[in-house]
Amino acid sequence: MLEGELVRLRALEPEESDRIHGWVHDPDVGRWMNHSYPRSLAQLRKRAEERPVNSYELVVLGIEAKADGQLIGIIDLRDAEPEVGNAELDIYIGEAEYRGGGGYGTEALRLMCRYGFNSMRLHMITLWVVAENERARHVYRKVGFTEDGRHREAFVAMDGKRHDMILMSMLKGELRS
Ligand SMILES: CC(C)(COP(=O)(O)OP(=O)(O)OC[C@H]1O[C@@H](n2cnc3c(N)ncnc32)[C@H](O)[C@@H]1OP(=O)(O)O)[C@@H](O)C(=O)NCCC(=O)NCCS
Repeated sequence: MLEGELVRLRALEPEESDRIHGWVHDPDVGRWMNHSYPRSLAQLRKRAEERPVNSYELVVLGIEAKADGQLIGIIDLRDAEPEVGNAELDIYIGEAEYRGGGGYGTEALRLMCRYGFNSMRLHMITLWVVAENERARHVYRKVGFTEDGRHREAFVAMDGKRHDMILMSMLKGELRS
């Protein structure tokens, strides 16, 4: 368990699938994420029950608000390669009232990056963000990510419109607290 002032990061429980299923339909979350074909609650529950234990290759953690113990989002580090020490990060705050200024996402990012650099001994953490997602880009820059480049028209939104994606990275030693 990783603990800050506002949030703790901990493993997800299968019964939390119902809450996560609700988040998937929130357009403020969904419009910035790579979307898959619609999945039923039963399929999501089954996937959660079969989820492998967290490991170097894939660490998926729930973001829990410390004040009320509520699960408010998910953060993961995936595809870590021991030879190069790189991994890719994803995050979203699913609970709308905790999003956009409370500092929950910022603290979760710092905790996860610190874990990646210190415990997993990563050298670099990367992520992709849709160019128009100004809030996420602001938060990523604030915690120490740098914009490396632009993948033109690489993201297709739910309405079929294409958007550029920005590749960002943070090296060990660049995390801003
Ligand atoms: C991106 C996300 C994880 C950030 O977490 P959060 O808890 O909302 O962010 P915080 O409250 O920690 O910080 C928000 C910051 O963005 C700023 N902000 C809010 N709206 C903004 C906007 N439209 N443009 C720029 N900055 C904005 C806030 O002022 C605050 O900055 P400050 O602390 O310097 O004042 C969260 O908003 C989220 O999950 N969004 C939907 C899904 C998503 O975009 N995921 C990322 C995909 S790459």
